[in-house]
Amino acid sequence: MASNAPIVAAVFASGNGSNAENILRFAQNSGGRLSIPLLICDKEGAGVLARAEKLGVPRAVIPVEGKGREARRAQEDKILALLAKQGIKWAFLAGYMQIISPEFLKFFADETLGVNRVVNIHPSLLPQFPGKDGYGDAWNAGVKKSGVTLHYVDEGVDTGPVIAQKTFDRRDDDTLETFRARGMELEYQIYTEFLASLIAETAALKKEHA
Ligand code: GRF
Repeated sequence: MASNAPIVAAVFASGNGSNAENILRFAQNSGGRLSIPLLICDKEGAGVLARAEKLGVPRAVIPVEGKGREARRAQEDKILALLAKQGIKWAFLAGYMQIISPEFLKFFADETLGVNRVVNIHPSLLPQFPGKDGYGDAWNAGVKKSGVTLHYVDEGVDTGPVIAQKTFDRRDDDTLETFRARGMELEYQIYTEFLASLIAETAALKKEHA
């Protein structure tokens, strides 16, 4: 029976939500192997909320109320209560603009995998250009090649173990917009390739232990 149990995850996003939508659509087409019963958002009115609603995915808007560590911890505790109630084991970050605390990461610590089950997409070839504006920073630095990074989240900012990277060239006729758009396509690909392999590996692991 357990071998049919899906991977249960939440998607976290703060803004437009094109990555979140890509992940939610992938889950809905996964034949029940990846279940995403919740989208977490920290910004009222963010574009991602309408995208999730269109797909019929329940949404929880949980802003940080106030400033500083205490306020962020309080927000995280509200989120963790929801995740625990729904048996959510993975967090897929997709343009989520909050820094995750070590306490929050502990909820997702996976000794077998040796990582936290929290995954993030970053729009540069880490360790180059960490921070909020990977495309803008790479563009302004005049790189000839840029890329995207999918990584596990650790206690640093954009420092966790890399899962995969994809690169693209800066073209002579690029603008920042076309440069970014090319990167975004790779973000969607890299996330769904990871989800497909996670499903395959989880199925293999369950078979081994059946
Ligand atoms: C993406 O470039 C992602 O890598 C970065 O923020 C952007 C979010 O875009 N962290 P969207 O909200 O998924 O459209």
